Amino acid sequence: MTDYNLLLLPGDGIGTEIMEEVKRVIAWFNDKTDLTFTYEEDLVGGAAYDAHGAAVSDATMEKALSSDAVIFGAVGGPKWDGVPYDVRPEAGLLRLRKDLKLFANLRPAICYPALADASSLKRDVVEGLDILIVRELTGGVYFGEPKEITDIGNGQKRAVDTQVYDTYEIERIAAVAFDLARTRGNKVTSMEKRNVMKSGVLWNEVVTATHKATYKDVELEHMLADAGGMQLVRWPKQFDVIVTDNLFGDMLSDVAAMLTGSLGMLPSAALGAPDPTTGRRKAMYEPVHGSAPDIAGKGIANPIAMIASFAMALRYSFELTRQADLVESAIAAALDKGLRTGDIAEAGAPTVTTVEMGTAILTEMDRLAG
Ligand code: NAD
Ligand code: IPM
Ligand code: MN
Repeated sequence: MTDYNLLLLPGDGIGTEIMEEVKRVIAWFNDKTDLTFTYEEDLVGGAAYDAHGAAVSDATMEKALSSDAVIFGAVGGPKWDGVPYDVRPEAGLLRLRKDLKLFANLRPAICYPALADASSLKRDVVEGLDILIVRELTGGVYFGEPKEITDIGNGQKRAVDTQVYDTYEIERIAAVAFDLARTRGNKVTSMEKRNVMKSGVLWNEVVTATHKATYKDVELEHMLADAGGMQLVRWPKQFDVIVTDNLFGDMLSDVAAMLTGSLGMLPSAALGAPDPTTGRRKAMYEPVHGSAPDIAGKGIANPIAMIASFAMALRYSFELTRQADLVESAIAAALDKGLRTGDIAEAGAPTVTTVEMGTAILTEMDRLAG
């Protein structure tokens, strides 16, 4: 198969700006290789709410279900602060994850050599860092019911969110983490809070049992999630693969992002289970960061997390390993040349725009592809 059918969902804020750079990378492959990527673009998040009153329309969901992969920008922003909870921009992202059954979120945090001084941590702490956070994405407190605010009298309200995990949900995310560990450093650290949460107790039990049944060759360690956050900042290179629940994974991956220099560097892949007949997975690729309202519209966002997310699509949806390596090497080379968007630049150093960084990456792709 050399024809790939994508759905691009730029979203809001910097989402639209960084997606333009992915479109140029797609055009590069279409023009300069025998691969053909066709794509449709659609609205999501606040942009979809403004157009249809829903953060993702049923028609867009249909397109997402029938595409080979969804490439997602970012959603949200102060403009939609007042909209009803069920149709807020973020609800569109959550519906896509849930309805496409994208339970496994791979969030790699790699410190590019050229950026070892861009982190707020010391060079020796982050230099050579290559960790992978495997975040459970369709369960836990994000989706558990009840989820509500009720009046309980005397002018008081009660807010309830429900953290809930079934055995099969923990088993399948643990298996993803162990399988990936086998392809890298062969170590998994599972993070939960079994000291206060029943879901943590079950999480720990099921990860341990999955390890014992199928993955004894992989090193497994358990860590309480609060201590895990501390260890991520103290000495992150002790980790290879971290597997954790939806909420802890959200928080820990923002922490991990800063180890690499900026939230603008971290890509992610949200994967479903392989189809039993075709072996293909539903998948959505999205940067870890949001719509960055503080810099939106200025053309200065870092497009690397978005472009690296497209590289993950090449790797995980299309098995185009060489092409994924090419994009990632081009990113590293552009950084080696000293190009910096504002988020990864040292104070007072010159910076480039979103488009200039995109152009530099394309130039490096030309050079590396010979
Ligand atoms: P954010 O990730 O949008 O921004 C946090 C900080 O990081 C900001 O200072 C921003 O300028 C900076 N930043 C983020 N990405 C950058 C990039 N590519 N280049 C340069 N700087 C970058 O998080 P937030 O401000 O907490 O949230 C803003 C909105 O985004 C909220 O509505 C939130 O719900 C939403 N959000 C969406 C997603 C998503 O769509 N996947 C993820 C996180 C947050
Ligand atoms: C992320 C974001 C989302 C999350 C929000 C926007 C729903 O923070 O992808 O990390 O919490 O999962
Ligand atoms: Mn997040």
